[in-house]
Amino acid sequence: DAAEKGGYEHFMLKEIHEQPAAVRDTVSPRIINGMPDLSQDGVDMQKLKDYRQIFIVACGTAMHAGMVGKYVIEKLARKPVIVDIASEFRYRDPIITKDDLMIVISQSGETADTMAVLRLAKEVGAATLAVVNVVGSSIAREADMVIYTHAGPEISVASTKAYMVQISVMYLLAFELAYANGTIDKERCMELTAQLGQMPDIIRETLELKDTCSFVASKLVNAESLLYIGRGLDYALSMEGSLKLKEISYIHSESYAAGELKHGTISLITEGMPVIAVATQKKLIEKTVSNIREVKARGAMVILICDNSIEVGEGVADYIIRLPQTDEQLMPMAAAAPLQLIAYYTSVLKGNDVDKPRNLAKSVTVE
Ligand code: AGP
Repeated sequence: DAAEKGGYEHFMLKEIHEQPAAVRDTVSPRIINGMPDLSQDGVDMQKLKDYRQIFIVACGTAMHAGMVGKYVIEKLARKPVIVDIASEFRYRDPIITKDDLMIVISQSGETADTMAVLRLAKEVGAATLAVVNVVGSSIAREADMVIYTHAGPEISVASTKAYMVQISVMYLLAFELAYANGTIDKERCMELTAQLGQMPDIIRETLELKDTCSFVASKLVNAESLLYIGRGLDYALSMEGSLKLKEISYIHSESYAAGELKHGTISLITEGMPVIAVATQKKLIEKTVSNIREVKARGAMVILICDNSIEVGEGVADYIIRLPQTDEQLMPMAAAAPLQLIAYYTSVLKGNDVDKPRNLAKSVTVE
């Protein structure tokens, strides 16, 4: 067991540290002459760009990767994307036709609800594309097209490196689709792709924030409940940060779109309640900072995660985690590991079984 953990105390920590290599293995074979290229995976972008509607459906962390996909595909490729939870999508009589594309995301390739959605999409004649980590898994076998993520085996129940490679694939798809669709030019596509190619180094840098993350964890460990807030891509990321924390620390947490606070959630804020604010998107920073001030004025303890170029006024946050800079679109890849590390150290401090949290299974093969 110790040997399998490669010197790390838990599989989760080992897997967090494997992320730079996992991203490199997933991304670099799909960059050809500086451009994203998914043709070796059987993906024909000229066809893909003509689908009426793109759906991305998955469960848990994989669904959160789909949320990042939605933001970047819509922003860059200007194609409408609907993201849904597999167990909801399949029972809501969804409007999906043969002119649509269904993307399912699954680490294990065995999740029952995700599998059912894939079958439902095939029944109506929609094109299906699976983003899967386990080679030869059921979902991979049944989908029309498969893009394998190369994370290697993920043992810890809490998914980390699988999420990171799932979002890398979302970026490859978004960039290539945007170029095929004519919504970004070749220069921009190459620039984004080059940045994506450099993400293993950026992620490595973010792993060096582990002491800061462990310090932040020491501030969360006695909390009864906390909030994650963000806007846009930062909201997508907050959902994953929050799930990771509750899954292994057993502390109740919610993610909220920062602009929604005033519509109900802010009444939960009491003296000392931790709020983790993710703010990596320049256009939205002022708005998020004003939401931070609102929670702070009501006694919240604010932990701000932002990139190192963003200026925030004195006293806005109690603690700040500064991320290395990359293209704004790619910031989720820079913020993911610190969020995972915060969850990890909180779980360790609580003395929980980090790799096997109570009541959870690694792969949910029943409904
Ligand atoms: C994440 O940490 C989870 N344990 C869980 O949400 C997981 O992502 C979900 O069950 C989906 O699994 P899959 O990717 O194997 O389909």
